[in-house]
Amino acid sequence: MINLRQVALTPDPADAHRGHGTREEMEARSKPIRDTVRRGQQPTHREGGTVRDLEIVTSADRRDLGEQVTAVFRPVWPEFIFHDPISNKYTSQVEAYFPQYDVLLLDEDEVVTGGWGVPIQWDGTSASLPGGYDGALISAVTGHENSVPPDTLCVMAAAVKPGRQGGGLAGKALTALRERATASGLQRVIAPVRPTLKSRYPLTPMENFARWARSDGLHLDPWIRAHQRLGASILGPAPRSMIISGTVAEWEDWAKMAFPETGQYIVPDALDPVDIDRERDRGTYAETNLWMRHL
Ligand SMILES: CC(C)(COP(=O)(O)OP(=O)(O)OC[C@H]1O[C@@H](n2cnc3c(N)ncnc32)[C@H](O)[C@@H]1OP(=O)(O)O)[C@@H](O)C(=O)NCCC(=O)NCCS
Repeated sequence: MINLRQVALTPDPADAHRGHGTREEMEARSKPIRDTVRRGQQPTHREGGTVRDLEIVTSADRRDLGEQVTAVFRPVWPEFIFHDPISNKYTSQVEAYFPQYDVLLLDEDEVVTGGWGVPIQWDGTSASLPGGYDGALISAVTGHENSVPPDTLCVMAAAVKPGRQGGGLAGKALTALRERATASGLQRVIAPVRPTLKSRYPLTPMENFARWARSDGLHLDPWIRAHQRLGASILGPAPRSMIISGTVAEWEDWAKMAFPETGQYIVPDALDPVDIDRERDRGTYAETNLWMRHL
């Protein structure tokens, strides 16, 4: 029973039986949501090809696809991502409360892309943006539990099946989430984006990276470009968006490299350096993301 969100968040098994949401949410989950998106309805930069109509389902509708989702999406993220304690703490609540914002797009029952988000309350000002990825999770779950009406969808992640990347599919997942947000009355859509190319420049502050545009005006980073092509704009860095801490041995295992002495290290697929403190037996990674706004 693993969906894209769980693939990204590695649930703590102890959480599995916590909260099942309100009756409306239970009904929403049990009601199959079957939309389709025809490639070409929403023009992208790369039309044509072999992609047929995509069926949009929620992970909750299609738990039978769990194994396929794991096989497709687990390899696209680095191991350390799965050890964010905030993500792990809130996975079961997010799954129970917001199943409608966890979509898979199927090409003849083959999972080709997916994405998920959480609804939060946000007043539209940069000053009151949540504290990145972790902050958005906390805001969504505590807001829901305290009956704070949401007005904004925060898109948390999207992924495309390896071998199908580069065909504009992630844009379809983002569009599906945006449409769901609008249909639910959420006025705004934002995302703490994890730029795919940033790991090649871990020493560069996100503030600088955010300005790196190509000659066509679009960003140097392919994932930021995918958002821009849907009309999204850059708001600014999301410092300490995701904090991942572990023992030195854990970090050596996650990163598949040795950390022989205390200091900062460049780790594959990490957007920022990892701080290793051998005396305290602690590795700490504070990932900076980039806030983008769609609506
Ligand atoms: C990042 C990702 C979601 C982009 O999805 P996508 O549907 O392939 O994106 P697009 O087809 O719109 O491509 C956008 C640009 O990225 C380029 N691109 C996409 N995948 C690529 C790849 N594997 N290698 C090189 N370039 C790639 C495309 O050529 C395109 O470049 P262009 O703007 O010059 O035309 C997808 O590559 C992915 O799943 N990556 C792993 C998970 C991830 O990092 N998710 C984002 C953080 S949550």
